[in-house]
Amino acid sequence: MPRILAIETSCDETAVAVVEDRRVLSNMVASQVALHQPYGGVVPEVASRCHLEMVNVCLDRALAESGLDWEAIDGVAATVTPGLVGALLVGVTAAKTLALLREKPFLGVHHLEGHIYASYLSEPQLEPPFLCLLVSGGHTSLIYVKDCGVYETLGSTRDDAAGEAFDKVARLLGLGYPGGPAVDKLAKAGDPAAFVLPEGKVSLPNGGYHPYDMSFSGLKTAVLRLVEKLTATGRDLPIADLAASFQETMARALTRRVVAAALNYGIERIAIGGGVAANSGLRQQLQAAALTHGLQVYFPPLKYCTDNAAMIACAAAAHFQRGDRSELTLGVHSRLPITEVMQLYENSAA
Ligand code: KG4
Ligand code: ZN
Repeated sequence: MPRILAIETSCDETAVAVVEDRRVLSNMVASQVALHQPYGGVVPEVASRCHLEMVNVCLDRALAESGLDWEAIDGVAATVTPGLVGALLVGVTAAKTLALLREKPFLGVHHLEGHIYASYLSEPQLEPPFLCLLVSGGHTSLIYVKDCGVYETLGSTRDDAAGEAFDKVARLLGLGYPGGPAVDKLAKAGDPAAFVLPEGKVSLPNGGYHPYDMSFSGLKTAVLRLVEKLTATGRDLPIADLAASFQETMARALTRRVVAAALNYGIERIAIGGGVAANSGLRQQLQAAALTHGLQVYFPPLKYCTDNAAMIACAAAAHFQRGDRSELTLGVHSRLPITEVMQLYENSAA
């Protein structure tokens, strides 16, 4: 039962957590959302500086709340990829320094593997194989989870991430940043059938469509054109109907891919991760589809869906258990496909 302290600073949350295998002992998250709000998105330099200010505070509190001392910690982990390089460096440097000082193994973690492992925090009995639909502000992928470190990306977005599309549509409708929760709330008062919007399909050279890849820029542009057209009439924008129609279309596009993959690969369990997992429209459609097709869908609590360090520690604990360790010379990377995750470790065959 490895006890891991992990640091997550890949984007706009400074997070530190301690887990014992799949059990969360402490989970500190300092969100920078308010800081980036005036800019309508994450400003990388502002994010790095804020991580620097917060990382030690979060570290002290996470360790204190875990009730453990350094003696009891087996390893120190940090997200090394993907993310904002300056932001990643803050967490990774802190983790490596602690590993060196406290003479603990260091483990670099892939952020998306962390999102996959979030489902184990609330479903400790869950074991591969399962499908993971990852829908966040920066990523949208459908991943076939075969084992720890063994993943196949079945599909991903060719352009905007799902959360990014929610944020952009929210801006078009005059809602704040981040826009997903605002669109979700507004959609409850609207008619999802008010407007017909394109679901977005990815063409294949043979004239067909990719069964699992997604494209949301067309959907976003369709909302933009609709807003322009409706604005030209001089009447009030039916923002609730627009929000509801957009959300319904997005949820349908995601649900269609998940169900197709589950049925084609014969996988009954589906875990959802990322901030968009909070979306009520997506939850409703996935749950309805699961009922129809005899599938099981797991929605981790929101605190584990959005960026946090508990999921990073949980992924690190699984690698630690396998004997995986990272070099202290391991660098940070703005991108790395999840299929390459074993590059982060040595002794992986041990
Ligand atoms: O996973 P996350 O916290 O951060 C990233 O790693 O990106 O996801 C944030 C994204 C934002 O785009 C936000 O608008 C979206 O998740 N989001 C939602 C909802 N709550 C958060 N989108 C739709 N409906 C929601 N209820
Ligand atoms: Zn994330």
